[in-house]
Amino acid sequence: MKFSSLLTALVATAAAAPLSPAKRSTQKNILLTNDDGWAATNIRATYRELKAAGYNVVLVAPASQRLGFGGQFQIPTSPNLTADGEFGYVKKGDPSWGHEADDDDVWYFDGTPAACVAFGADYVFPKFKGNVLIDLVVSGPNEGTNLSPGYFTLSGTIGAAYNAVYRGLPSIAFSGSNSANAFFKNDTSRSDDASFPPNIYAHKVVDFVNQLFARAGDNGVLPISTGVNVNFPLVGDESTNCTDPQWVFTRLSGAASTGPSIQFNASTGLFDWEDKVSTPLLVCVEGDCSLPSEAFTLYKESCKTSVSVFSVDYDATKQQEQVVKTFLNPLFK
Ligand SMILES: *[C@@H]1O[C@H](CO)[C@@H](O)[C@H](O)[C@H]1NC(C)=O
Ligand SMILES: *[C@@H]1O[C@H](CO)[C@@H](O)[C@H](O)[C@H]1NC(C)=O
Ligand SMILES: *[C@@H]1O[C@H](CO)[C@@H](O)[C@H](O)[C@H]1NC(C)=O
Ligand SMILES: *[C@@H]1O[C@H](CO)[C@@H](O)[C@H](O)[C@H]1NC(C)=O
Repeated sequence: MKFSSLLTALVATAAAAPLSPAKRSTQKNILLTNDDGWAATNIRATYRELKAAGYNVVLVAPASQRLGFGGQFQIPTSPNLTADGEFGYVKKGDPSWGHEADDDDVWYFDGTPAACVAFGADYVFPKFKGNVLIDLVVSGPNEGTNLSPGYFTLSGTIGAAYNAVYRGLPSIAFSGSNSANAFFKNDTSRSDDASFPPNIYAHKVVDFVNQLFARAGDNGVLPISTGVNVNFPLVGDESTNCTDPQWVFTRLSGAASTGPSIQFNASTGLFDWEDKVSTPLLVCVEGDCSLPSEAFTLYKESCKTSVSVFSVDYDATKQQEQVVKTFLNPLFK
């Protein structure tokens, strides 16, 4: 009796005890996620190259394709998968989260990209990775671009990144122009192929991350509240001659920026999805208005990679605030 109540007390204490703060380690720790699923070629190539570059990388990504889920936060509703995962790589009835049998740094989770960040940061790192501090969250490279404010909230790749940033984890969203939804096991013969787009993107991610860590101070790789959105052009054998795209510092809004809209299609009786330019996407309200937009850089120029800085302080500018406040003033008496 005594033993069992002591045990109960111990268990209760353990359950209630807050996790100790994450520990800094000498090796740099990266949480890698995406929205195309843990079995996509782009993320596996990036995992391989970040590891080869000496980072401690833990991949935690959705079991299934989660494109367009934005910042939605969905976690498993059952301990076992209720449908096959992407490419049938995990199957209905398998556990809803787990890792590769031969690599416990490669995890899937039956949730959205934003929830995968939380699963990695709140569960995998504390429980299995010595509770080390996550220095950076890398999301992507996505299969397909994520350009302009029209895609910022919509993209699961960027959704994972802004969820990381508001948790205090610096994050970069990478998107590639290659849109092939590829299964990594089908591409193993190309893992050394220098003209294979996923390999070119992976090396570019490593260059970018190396540069951030080279300049990082004690306060981390990016200022608080700040994230970065990177979009790669078509490269390698999917391009005419682009093997080493040039980095261009860009902004989210501006020329050529689009957002999704719909048009009725009489022959199908349904709606077609359409990309449309609209004025608010073109207007510069915040940031450096002299920078080219990321959409212009990707759509109108060739062999260039856009790099835009975003903030998760979603408050409007003081001027915008003042205008709205003036409209509403009588309500605040
Ligand atoms: C769920 O998965 C576990 C582990 O594979 C297995 O032991 C269990 O039988 C599964 N449960 C169901 C209801 O499929
Ligand atoms: C991968 O290869 C298999 C076998 O050739 C094929 O059936 C499947 O469609 C391929 N999957 C992708 C995503 O390319
Ligand atoms: C392709 O790139 C090479 C190396 O930069 C350059 O010499 C060549 O002119 C380019 N070809 C075309 C068609 O752009
Ligand atoms: C309507 O849908 C059909 C079938 O997807 C497509 O071939 C056609 O181009 C669409 N029409 C327009 C006007 O977009």
